[in-house]
Amino acid sequence: MSDLRADLERVRGEARDGLNAAHSRVEVEMLRHDLLGRSGQLTGLLKQLASVAPDERPAIGQLANEIRAELEAAIGERLEAVRHGDLEARLADEAIDMSAPGRPIPVGHLHPVQTLMRDLREVFHAYGFEIFEGPEVETEEYNFELLNIPADHPARDLWDTLFVAEPGSFEAGDPRPATDGTILRPHTSPVQIRAMRALDPPIRVLMPGRCFRYDAVDASHNFEFFQVEGLVVDRDTSLADLKGLLEEIARALYGREVRTRFRPGYYPFTEPSVAFDIGCLVCGGEGCPACKRSGWMTILGAGMVHPTVLRNGGFDPAEFQGYAFGMGPDRMAMLRHAIGDIRLFFSADLRFISQFAGGR
Ligand code: DAH
Repeated sequence: MSDLRADLERVRGEARDGLNAAHSRVEVEMLRHDLLGRSGQLTGLLKQLASVAPDERPAIGQLANEIRAELEAAIGERLEAVRHGDLEARLADEAIDMSAPGRPIPVGHLHPVQTLMRDLREVFHAYGFEIFEGPEVETEEYNFELLNIPADHPARDLWDTLFVAEPGSFEAGDPRPATDGTILRPHTSPVQIRAMRALDPPIRVLMPGRCFRYDAVDASHNFEFFQVEGLVVDRDTSLADLKGLLEEIARALYGREVRTRFRPGYYPFTEPSVAFDIGCLVCGGEGCPACKRSGWMTILGAGMVHPTVLRNGGFDPAEFQGYAFGMGPDRMAMLRHAIGDIRLFFSADLRFISQFAGGR
Protein backbone atom coordinates (compact mmCIF):
# COMPACT_ATOMS: atom_id res chain seq x y z
CA MET A 1 0.00 0.00 0.00
CA SER A 2 2.54 2.56 -1.15
CA ASP A 3 -0.31 4.99 -1.83
CA LEU A 4 -0.19 5.76 1.87
CA ARG A 5 3.47 6.69 1.62
CA ALA A 6 2.66 9.11 -1.19
CA ASP A 7 -0.23 10.59 0.80
CA LEU A 8 2.06 11.05 3.79
CA GLU A 9 4.63 12.86 1.66
CA ARG A 10 1.92 15.06 0.12
CA VAL A 11 0.58 16.05 3.52
CA ARG A 12 4.12 16.77 4.71
CA GLY A 13 4.73 19.07 1.72
CA GLU A 14 1.39 20.83 2.03
CA ALA A 15 1.90 21.28 5.76
CA ARG A 16 5.27 22.94 5.20
CA ASP A 17 3.83 25.34 2.63
CA GLY A 18 0.88 26.06 4.86
CA LEU A 19 3.08 26.78 7.84
CA ASN A 20 5.28 29.14 5.88
CA ALA A 21 2.22 31.04 4.78
CA ALA A 22 0.82 31.29 8.33
CA HIS A 23 1.55 34.65 9.88
CA SER A 24 -0.49 34.64 13.03
CA ARG A 25 -1.02 32.39 15.98
CA VAL A 26 -4.59 31.69 14.89
CA GLU A 27 -3.52 30.58 11.41
CA VAL A 28 -0.92 28.19 12.87
CA GLU A 29 -3.40 26.77 15.34
CA MET A 30 -5.89 26.16 12.55
CA LEU A 31 -3.24 24.29 10.59
CA ARG A 32 -2.41 22.20 13.62
CA HIS A 33 -6.06 21.34 13.95
CA ASP A 34 -6.30 20.42 10.25
CA LEU A 35 -3.25 18.16 10.42
CA LEU A 36 -3.07 16.69 13.86
CA GLY A 37 -6.54 17.19 15.27
CA ARG A 38 -8.83 14.23 15.94
CA SER A 39 -10.10 14.27 12.36
CA GLY A 40 -6.97 15.90 10.97
CA GLN A 41 -5.33 14.75 7.73
CA LEU A 42 -2.29 13.15 9.33
CA THR A 43 -4.39 11.54 12.03
CA GLY A 44 -6.58 10.07 9.30
CA LEU A 45 -3.54 8.64 7.49
CA LEU A 46 -2.18 7.12 10.69
CA LYS A 47 -5.45 5.27 11.17
CA GLN A 48 -4.94 3.69 7.76
CA LEU A 49 -1.68 2.11 8.98
CA ALA A 50 -3.67 -0.81 10.33
CA SER A 51 -4.63 -1.84 6.82
CA VAL A 52 -1.10 -1.76 5.45
CA ALA A 53 0.55 -5.08 4.59
CA PRO A 54 2.49 -6.32 7.62
CA ASP A 55 5.83 -6.34 5.87
CA GLU A 56 5.46 -2.68 4.81
CA ARG A 57 3.98 -1.55 8.06
CA PRO A 58 7.19 -0.88 10.07
CA ALA A 59 8.73 1.34 7.41
CA ILE A 60 5.60 3.33 6.74
CA GLY A 61 4.84 3.52 10.42
CA GLN A 62 8.29 4.94 11.02
CA LEU A 63 7.82 7.47 8.23
CA ALA A 64 4.44 8.53 9.63
CA ASN A 65 5.86 9.02 13.10
CA GLU A 66 8.76 10.96 11.69
CA ILE A 67 6.41 13.26 9.83
CA ARG A 68 4.23 13.74 12.87
CA ALA A 69 7.22 14.62 15.05
CA GLU A 70 8.55 16.88 12.33
CA LEU A 71 5.23 18.72 11.93
CA GLU A 72 4.79 19.13 15.67
CA ALA A 73 8.24 20.64 15.92
CA ALA A 74 7.63 22.85 12.89
CA ILE A 75 4.33 24.04 14.33
CA GLY A 76 6.02 24.85 17.62
CA GLU A 77 8.71 26.80 15.83
CA ARG A 78 6.22 28.62 13.68
CA LEU A 79 4.21 29.61 16.74
CA GLU A 80 7.33 31.07 18.31
CA ALA A 81 8.16 32.90 15.11
CA VAL A 82 4.76 34.52 14.63
CA ARG A 83 4.59 35.41 18.28
CA HIS A 84 7.92 37.18 18.06
CA GLY A 85 7.02 38.66 14.73
CA ASP A 86 3.81 40.10 16.20
CA LEU A 87 5.60 41.36 19.21
CA GLU A 88 8.38 42.97 17.23
CA ALA A 89 5.93 44.65 14.91
CA ARG A 90 3.94 45.90 17.87
CA LEU A 91 6.97 47.14 19.70
CA ALA A 92 8.16 48.94 16.59
CA ASP A 93 4.75 50.58 16.32
CA GLU A 94 4.64 51.56 19.94
CA ALA A 95 8.27 52.51 20.35
CA ILE A 96 8.58 55.38 22.80
CA ASP A 97 11.77 57.35 23.02
CA MET A 98 11.81 58.06 26.72
CA SER A 99 14.55 60.64 26.28
CA ALA A 100 12.63 62.73 23.71
CA PRO A 101 11.39 66.08 25.03
CA GLY A 102 7.61 66.35 25.38
CA ARG A 103 5.69 67.74 22.44
CA PRO A 104 4.29 71.16 23.29
CA ILE A 105 0.51 71.30 23.07
CA PRO A 106 -0.36 74.58 21.41
CA VAL A 107 -2.87 76.57 23.44
CA GLY A 108 -4.30 79.91 22.45
CA HIS A 109 -4.26 82.97 24.64
CA LEU A 110 -6.12 86.21 24.97
CA HIS A 111 -5.34 89.19 22.78
CA PRO A 112 -3.75 91.97 24.86
CA VAL A 113 -6.79 94.22 24.34
CA GLN A 114 -9.10 91.42 25.49
CA THR A 115 -6.86 90.83 28.50
CA LEU A 116 -7.18 94.49 29.38
CA MET A 117 -10.96 94.39 28.97
CA ARG A 118 -11.10 91.30 31.15
CA ASP A 119 -9.10 93.14 33.81
CA LEU A 120 -11.50 96.08 33.59
CA ARG A 121 -14.46 93.74 34.04
CA GLU A 122 -12.79 92.18 37.06
CA VAL A 123 -11.89 95.47 38.73
CA PHE A 124 -15.34 97.00 38.13
CA HIS A 125 -17.03 93.80 39.22
CA ALA A 126 -15.51 94.38 42.66
CA TYR A 127 -17.38 97.71 42.70
CA GLY A 128 -20.69 96.08 41.88
CA PHE A 129 -20.80 96.66 38.11
CA GLU A 130 -22.49 94.15 35.84
CA ILE A 131 -22.05 93.75 32.09
CA PHE A 132 -24.61 95.14 29.64
CA GLU A 133 -24.17 94.97 25.88
CA GLY A 134 -25.72 96.85 22.97
CA PRO A 135 -25.65 96.41 19.18
CA GLU A 136 -22.71 97.35 16.95
CA VAL A 137 -25.12 98.48 14.23
CA GLU A 138 -26.96 101.23 16.08
CA THR A 139 -29.66 103.73 15.22
CA GLU A 140 -28.79 107.39 14.74
CA GLU A 141 -31.42 108.11 17.35
CA TYR A 142 -29.72 106.15 20.11
CA ASN A 143 -26.27 107.20 19.02
CA PHE A 144 -27.00 110.93 18.76
CA GLU A 145 -30.46 112.37 19.47
CA LEU A 146 -31.07 110.54 22.73
CA LEU A 147 -27.56 111.47 23.85
CA ASN A 148 -28.42 115.15 23.50
CA ILE A 149 -26.76 115.59 20.09
CA PRO A 150 -29.44 117.04 17.76
CA ALA A 151 -29.30 116.37 14.02
CA ASP A 152 -27.93 119.75 13.04
CA HIS A 153 -25.64 120.17 16.04
CA PRO A 154 -21.96 120.64 15.22
CA ALA A 155 -21.05 118.26 18.06
CA ARG A 156 -22.11 115.45 15.73
CA ASP A 157 -18.89 116.09 13.85
CA LEU A 158 -16.96 114.88 16.92
CA TRP A 159 -17.80 111.35 15.81
CA ASP A 160 -16.55 110.31 12.39
CA THR A 161 -19.49 108.10 11.73
CA LEU A 162 -19.87 105.29 9.22
CA PHE A 163 -23.40 105.35 7.85
CA VAL A 164 -25.30 102.29 6.75
CA ALA A 165 -27.21 102.72 3.47
CA GLU A 166 -28.96 100.50 0.97
CA PRO A 167 -26.55 99.39 -1.76
CA GLY A 168 -27.14 101.52 -4.85
CA SER A 169 -28.89 104.27 -2.92
CA PHE A 170 -25.91 106.59 -3.06
CA GLU A 171 -23.16 107.74 -5.38
CA ALA A 172 -19.54 106.84 -4.64
CA GLY A 173 -17.95 109.79 -2.86
CA ASP A 174 -21.29 111.20 -1.70
CA PRO A 175 -20.28 112.86 1.61
CA ARG A 176 -23.65 112.39 3.31
CA PRO A 177 -25.82 109.81 1.55
CA ALA A 178 -29.38 109.18 2.59
CA THR A 179 -29.25 106.38 5.15
CA ASP A 180 -31.80 104.03 6.60
CA GLY A 181 -31.18 105.60 10.00
CA THR A 182 -28.59 103.08 11.11
CA ILE A 183 -24.86 103.50 11.57
CA LEU A 184 -21.88 101.52 12.78
CA ARG A 185 -21.67 102.89 16.29
CA PRO A 186 -18.71 105.25 16.74
CA HIS A 187 -18.87 104.89 20.53
CA THR A 188 -20.54 102.75 23.18
CA SER A 189 -22.41 105.66 24.77
CA PRO A 190 -25.78 104.77 23.10
CA VAL A 191 -25.77 101.63 25.26
CA GLN A 192 -26.31 103.99 28.22
CA ILE A 193 -29.81 104.75 26.94
CA ARG A 194 -30.51 101.07 26.34
CA ALA A 195 -29.33 100.20 29.86
CA MET A 196 -31.40 102.97 31.49
CA ARG A 197 -34.49 101.82 29.61
CA ALA A 198 -33.93 98.16 30.44
CA LEU A 199 -32.82 98.21 34.08
CA ASP A 200 -34.21 99.36 37.38
CA PRO A 201 -32.20 101.72 39.58
CA PRO A 202 -29.72 101.65 41.14
CA ILE A 203 -27.90 101.00 37.87
CA ARG A 204 -24.21 100.07 37.81
CA VAL A 205 -23.23 98.73 34.42
CA LEU A 206 -20.11 98.25 32.33
CA MET A 207 -20.74 98.23 28.59
CA PRO A 208 -17.85 96.85 26.55
CA GLY A 209 -17.89 96.60 22.79
CA ARG A 210 -16.50 97.19 19.34
CA CYS A 211 -16.78 100.61 17.74
CA PHE A 212 -16.16 101.96 14.26
CA ARG A 213 -15.17 105.33 12.86
CA TYR A 214 -14.52 106.85 9.48
CA ASP A 215 -10.99 107.67 10.59
CA ALA A 216 -7.75 108.02 8.67
CA VAL A 217 -5.74 105.04 9.94
CA ASP A 218 -2.43 105.93 11.57
CA ALA A 219 -0.35 104.85 14.57
CA SER A 220 -3.01 105.96 17.04
CA HIS A 221 -6.26 105.67 15.03
CA ASN A 222 -8.04 102.74 13.53
CA PHE A 223 -11.45 102.50 11.88
CA GLU A 224 -12.25 99.70 14.31
CA PHE A 225 -11.50 99.76 18.03
CA PHE A 226 -12.98 99.00 21.44
CA GLN A 227 -14.61 101.04 24.14
CA VAL A 228 -15.73 100.15 27.61
CA GLU A 229 -18.52 102.42 28.80
CA GLY A 230 -19.58 102.75 32.41
CA LEU A 231 -22.81 104.10 33.87
CA VAL A 232 -24.15 104.60 37.36
CA VAL A 233 -27.67 105.92 38.00
CA ASP A 234 -28.85 106.34 41.56
CA ARG A 235 -30.24 108.85 44.05
CA ASP A 236 -27.67 111.24 45.51
CA THR A 237 -24.71 110.38 43.32
CA SER A 238 -22.26 113.15 42.63
CA LEU A 239 -19.07 114.05 40.83
CA ALA A 240 -17.24 113.16 44.05
CA ASP A 241 -18.42 109.55 43.69
CA LEU A 242 -17.20 109.49 40.10
CA LYS A 243 -13.80 110.89 41.08
CA GLY A 244 -13.39 108.48 43.97
CA LEU A 245 -14.32 105.48 41.85
CA LEU A 246 -12.03 106.38 38.95
CA GLU A 247 -9.07 106.99 41.26
CA GLU A 248 -9.55 103.58 42.85
CA ILE A 249 -9.86 101.95 39.44
CA ALA A 250 -6.64 103.60 38.25
CA ARG A 251 -4.83 102.30 41.34
CA ALA A 252 -6.18 98.80 40.82
CA LEU A 253 -5.05 98.83 37.20
CA TYR A 254 -1.76 100.69 37.38
CA GLY A 255 -0.62 100.31 40.99
CA ARG A 256 -1.13 102.37 44.14
CA GLU A 257 1.61 104.81 43.21
CA VAL A 258 -0.10 106.00 40.03
CA ARG A 259 -0.74 109.75 39.85
CA THR A 260 -4.12 110.92 38.56
CA ARG A 261 -5.78 114.18 37.58
CA PHE A 262 -9.10 115.44 36.26
CA ARG A 263 -9.35 118.12 33.58
CA PRO A 264 -12.45 119.88 32.32
CA GLY A 265 -13.77 118.39 29.09
CA TYR A 266 -16.75 118.58 26.79
CA TYR A 267 -19.28 115.93 25.83
CA PRO A 268 -22.87 116.73 24.91
CA PHE A 269 -24.22 113.88 27.08
CA THR A 270 -22.48 114.86 30.33
CA GLU A 271 -22.51 118.07 32.36
CA PRO A 272 -20.02 118.76 33.75
CA SER A 273 -17.63 116.71 31.62
CA VAL A 274 -14.08 115.73 32.51
CA ALA A 275 -11.06 114.02 31.08
CA PHE A 276 -9.18 111.66 33.38
CA ASP A 277 -5.40 111.42 33.10
CA ILE A 278 -2.79 109.23 34.73
CA GLY A 279 0.88 110.10 35.17
CA CYS A 280 2.82 108.84 32.15
CA LEU A 281 3.72 105.19 32.64
CA VAL A 282 6.72 105.44 30.34
CA CYS A 283 8.61 108.43 31.78
CA GLY A 284 6.96 108.69 35.18
CA GLY A 285 5.90 112.27 34.50
CA GLU A 286 9.07 113.91 33.26
CA GLY A 287 7.85 114.13 29.69
CA CYS A 288 8.62 111.78 26.80
CA PRO A 289 7.39 111.10 23.27
CA ALA A 290 4.73 108.64 24.56
CA CYS A 291 2.98 111.40 26.59
CA LYS A 292 3.82 114.11 24.05
CA ARG A 293 6.14 115.62 26.70
CA SER A 294 3.21 116.48 28.98
CA GLY A 295 3.90 113.85 31.66
CA TRP A 296 0.21 112.78 31.50
CA MET A 297 -1.82 110.26 29.56
CA THR A 298 -5.58 110.55 29.08
CA ILE A 299 -7.33 107.22 29.63
CA LEU A 300 -11.00 108.19 29.60
CA GLY A 301 -13.70 110.80 29.27
CA ALA A 302 -16.41 111.09 31.92
CA GLY A 303 -18.98 113.30 33.54
CA MET A 304 -22.34 113.64 35.24
CA VAL A 305 -25.10 112.33 32.99
CA HIS A 306 -26.85 115.29 31.34
CA PRO A 307 -30.42 115.82 32.64
CA THR A 308 -31.77 115.47 29.09
CA VAL A 309 -30.05 112.10 28.73
CA LEU A 310 -31.42 110.96 32.10
CA ARG A 311 -34.89 111.95 30.95
CA ASN A 312 -34.40 110.10 27.65
CA GLY A 313 -33.47 107.06 29.67
CA GLY A 314 -36.73 107.34 31.64
CA PHE A 315 -35.50 109.03 34.81
CA ASP A 316 -36.54 112.24 36.52
CA PRO A 317 -33.34 114.30 37.00
CA ALA A 318 -34.84 115.88 40.11
CA GLU A 319 -34.86 112.45 41.69
CA PHE A 320 -31.97 110.58 40.05
CA GLN A 321 -28.47 111.51 39.08
CA GLY A 322 -25.91 109.56 37.17
CA TYR A 323 -22.33 109.53 36.12
CA ALA A 324 -20.79 107.94 33.07
CA PHE A 325 -17.39 107.28 31.63
CA GLY A 326 -15.96 105.92 28.41
CA MET A 327 -12.62 104.12 28.30
CA GLY A 328 -10.44 103.18 25.33
CA PRO A 329 -9.03 99.72 26.06
CA ASP A 330 -6.88 99.73 22.92
CA ARG A 331 -5.14 102.86 24.10
CA MET A 332 -4.94 101.56 27.65
CA ALA A 333 -3.31 98.34 26.41
CA MET A 334 -0.86 100.41 24.37
CA LEU A 335 0.06 102.32 27.53
CA ARG A 336 0.37 99.14 29.54
CA HIS A 337 2.75 97.46 27.10
CA ALA A 338 4.41 100.56 25.63
CA ILE A 339 3.10 99.66 22.16
CA GLY A 340 3.65 102.47 19.70
CA ASP A 341 1.20 101.54 16.95
CA ILE A 342 -2.49 100.63 17.33
CA ARG A 343 -2.46 98.88 13.93
CA LEU A 344 -0.44 96.03 15.45
CA PHE A 345 -3.52 95.01 17.46
CA PHE A 346 -5.46 94.29 14.28
CA SER A 347 -2.59 92.96 12.19
CA ALA A 348 -3.03 89.28 13.18
CA ASP A 349 0.77 89.07 13.08
CA LEU A 350 1.65 86.14 15.33
CA ARG A 351 5.14 87.52 15.98
CA PHE A 352 3.39 90.40 17.71
CA ILE A 353 0.44 88.58 19.27
CA SER A 354 2.39 85.66 20.74
CA GLN A 355 4.44 88.03 22.88
CA PHE A 356 1.37 88.30 25.10
CA ALA A 357 0.98 84.58 25.76
CA GLY A 358 1.61 85.14 29.46
CA GLY A 359 -1.67 87.03 29.88
CA ARG A 360 -0.31 90.47 30.64
N1 DAH B 1 -18.41 108.48 24.02
C1 DAH B 1 -17.23 109.28 24.20
C2 DAH B 1 -16.34 109.12 23.00
O1 DAH B 1 -16.48 108.21 22.28
C3 DAH B 1 -16.48 108.88 25.45
C4 DAH B 1 -17.24 109.27 26.69
C5 DAH B 1 -17.05 110.49 27.28
C6 DAH B 1 -18.15 108.40 27.24
C7 DAH B 1 -17.72 110.85 28.41
C8 DAH B 1 -18.84 108.77 28.39
C9 DAH B 1 -18.62 110.02 28.97
O2 DAH B 1 -19.73 107.98 28.98
O3 DAH B 1 -19.29 110.36 30.09
O4 DAH B 1 -15.48 109.95 22.78
